[in-house]
Amino acid sequence: MSPSPADFLELRRLTSMLSEVTRAHLMRSGLELGLFAALAEPVRETQLIERLGLAPELAAAWLRAADAHGLIDRCSEPSDAYRTSRHVRWLLESPDSESLIALLDQSLLTYAPQFDALPGLIRGGNRPTFRGGPPAQRAAAIARLLEPRALEVLSKVPGVHDARSVLDIGCGYGTYLSGLLCRYRDAHGVGVEIDPDVGELARQQLIDAGVSRRAEIRIGDFMEIGLEVGTFDLALLNNNLYYFPPDRHYELLTRAHRKLAVGGVIAIQVPIATSRFLPRVAGLTRTTTALDLFLRSHANLYGLPDLAPLHDTLREAGFGDIGEVNILPGGSFRYVWARKSALDRPEGDPRIGSPDAP
Ligand SMILES: C[S@@+](CC[C@H](N)C(=O)[O-])C[C@H]1O[C@@H](n2cnc3c(N)ncnc32)[C@H](O)[C@@H]1O
Repeated sequence: MSPSPADFLELRRLTSMLSEVTRAHLMRSGLELGLFAALAEPVRETQLIERLGLAPELAAAWLRAADAHGLIDRCSEPSDAYRTSRHVRWLLESPDSESLIALLDQSLLTYAPQFDALPGLIRGGNRPTFRGGPPAQRAAAIARLLEPRALEVLSKVPGVHDARSVLDIGCGYGTYLSGLLCRYRDAHGVGVEIDPDVGELARQQLIDAGVSRRAEIRIGDFMEIGLEVGTFDLALLNNNLYYFPPDRHYELLTRAHRKLAVGGVIAIQVPIATSRFLPRVAGLTRTTTALDLFLRSHANLYGLPDLAPLHDTLREAGFGDIGEVNILPGGSFRYVWARKSALDRPEGDPRIGSPDAP
């Protein structure tokens, strides 16, 4: 029986989905082998294979598949020559090329194996521990895509423009702290990072950005490390709320509150899995829901936060004014900010397990 038009359409959807997966693999292998760079100008198949020392039959099959998937174009003259397609040239020549390639690698090398394990995990299997390393480095490279815009938006958060003392909690590679100190030449900063290797790279980042005299990186767990109390004008929590279990958010935010001076502000950068119109049509609802699923499929990471409980916890932790600014239209990435309007409550809060080090 021949398929109905509706069957045909659905079959087409399914095969398109699968060919996008193949296309992504072809893209990644072409990048890793240097094939796209070698095909910046038209090159004959045999020359290419010889120049790169490739297995002829397999390389020829890759070329045919990459051509069929729109990654390279077969030339009209000579007809056995290929050239990188416009889309791949755009990727390689973009100023954000490194971040865009990290996006591709993250999807294929980090998300795909994790999502492959989902049936077992959803049935209740043990979730693996997220260990940083290359997946965290790729996540950092991807985050750079949003960073200039996030820093721009951050300047609109009340109090940020005049902040002279900045605390960057979970500062990662230090690019936000250095970016902020480059913008505000009177400001000083402290970054806290739990991973010593990452913290070392953050120190180098401060040196490279020429702001190391106004900033330092302290290695340790923010939940335990000794830090000045009541001094910071701005506390940043960029892209790391989901490293802290929700039942410790109160403790985390209370601790941050104590470090701030009265009038100081906390700014929490969070992806939000919203299905509002703009994020949905821009594909960002897919991005954030996939991130949420990826996070939750680990033993030591937690899902993206819901906004109402986050606001409630900020209030419970002692913050006064609370607001939000969108980093991307539609709010799939945003800053939730809150101001410390009064002195801290007395020490000895029963909801906080360990003492809040000075
Ligand atoms: C996704 S990265 C974000 C880094 C940086 N804030 C940014 O946006 O580029 C999260 C970072 O928080 C750090 N981190 C997680 N838990 C922490 C804790 N309890 N204390 C200090 N750093 C922590 C991780 O090691 C990691 O470098």
